[in-house]
Amino acid sequence: MDCLQGWPQPVVRVQALSDSGLMTIPDLYVKPPAERPSVGNGGAVTSDIPVIELGGLAEGAAECRATIRAVADACSEWGFFQVVNHGVSPDLVARVREVWRAFFHLPMEEKQAYANDPKTYEGYGSRLGVEKGAILDWGDYFFLHLLPESIKNQNKWPALPSSCRETVQEYADELAKLCGTLMKVLSISLGLDVEQLQTAFGGDAVGACLRVNYYPTCPQPELTLGLSAHSDPGGLTILLADDYVKGLQVRRGDDWVTVQPIPGAFIVNIGDQIEVLSNAVYRSVEHRVLVNAAQERLSLAFFYNPRSDVAIAPVSKLVTPERPQLYRPMTFDEYRLYIRKKGPKGKTQVASLKAQSVN
Ligand code: OGA
Ligand code: NI
Repeated sequence: MDCLQGWPQPVVRVQALSDSGLMTIPDLYVKPPAERPSVGNGGAVTSDIPVIELGGLAEGAAECRATIRAVADACSEWGFFQVVNHGVSPDLVARVREVWRAFFHLPMEEKQAYANDPKTYEGYGSRLGVEKGAILDWGDYFFLHLLPESIKNQNKWPALPSSCRETVQEYADELAKLCGTLMKVLSISLGLDVEQLQTAFGGDAVGACLRVNYYPTCPQPELTLGLSAHSDPGGLTILLADDYVKGLQVRRGDDWVTVQPIPGAFIVNIGDQIEVLSNAVYRSVEHRVLVNAAQERLSLAFFYNPRSDVAIAPVSKLVTPERPQLYRPMTFDEYRLYIRKKGPKGKTQVASLKAQSVN
């Protein structure tokens, strides 16, 4: 794919811009007025995404059913929820945050050794999409593949801090387990067999990757975004947000709801592939990230994706005369090229699967 060979403009690290102490941000980061943080916040939304206690799954049948129902309601009403009592050790969560904070605070030369390119996106990056002249987001990131094993390459993960690779692997193992559980819950909640969603994802050959987002402080946070509005292209996302610094906003009608992170919780959201498989019973929901002048923010997004070479289409049980098939099939390999070329663009990609008539 020729257009994914290199970045269209020289790469500038947002962290370096922030550290330079400039008082006005370069035009390249100034969003058009309609996309700025103040827009769509007039509705004074006071509600927040649901919080679900996952411990209920291991209790009696009634608690288990109630938990599955709570997940179903959260998925159909919000596309987002927080989970507590999720079984991932607080110590591991603290360590993984710490290694990534340490990585982003290494001298720039150390980080530059991992500079990424748009072919695989693996490594240290500062933009999504290769469209020349696009307005950029105020954030840097590190992207790496965890699953399948065949494409995992630990040499591309940071060697420093020295515990990074080991800690990331430990975190990945735990999060893949949690996703396995959530896939069963989602499957049952959709009225499918317990393993059906996982099977549709390609069984044991699923994909997983990690995007660690680093949002430096910004002198003019009202003019830009840390991450533009998008839905996640993959299956399921488990976000470890910064415990203290808010920033994530979730689309609710015409408003944006600021998520109040609960210390120790994960934020879970439905990606486009589950929207497609569920024939829109569950929808991926747009979200975006605000930055601020006072504090940097760190978040870890773990993406659980279908095997990249199987066609993803609505499962037949969810296609009925009343609810015809809404999306045409596409492999995830093909699907993710869109965001890799165009960058975050709301829900335009999943909408494009609908545009074509389906049989
Ligand atoms: C993402 C994302 C949210 C955040 O990486 O896809 O939506 O709070 N991140 O950083
Ligand atoms: Ni996202």
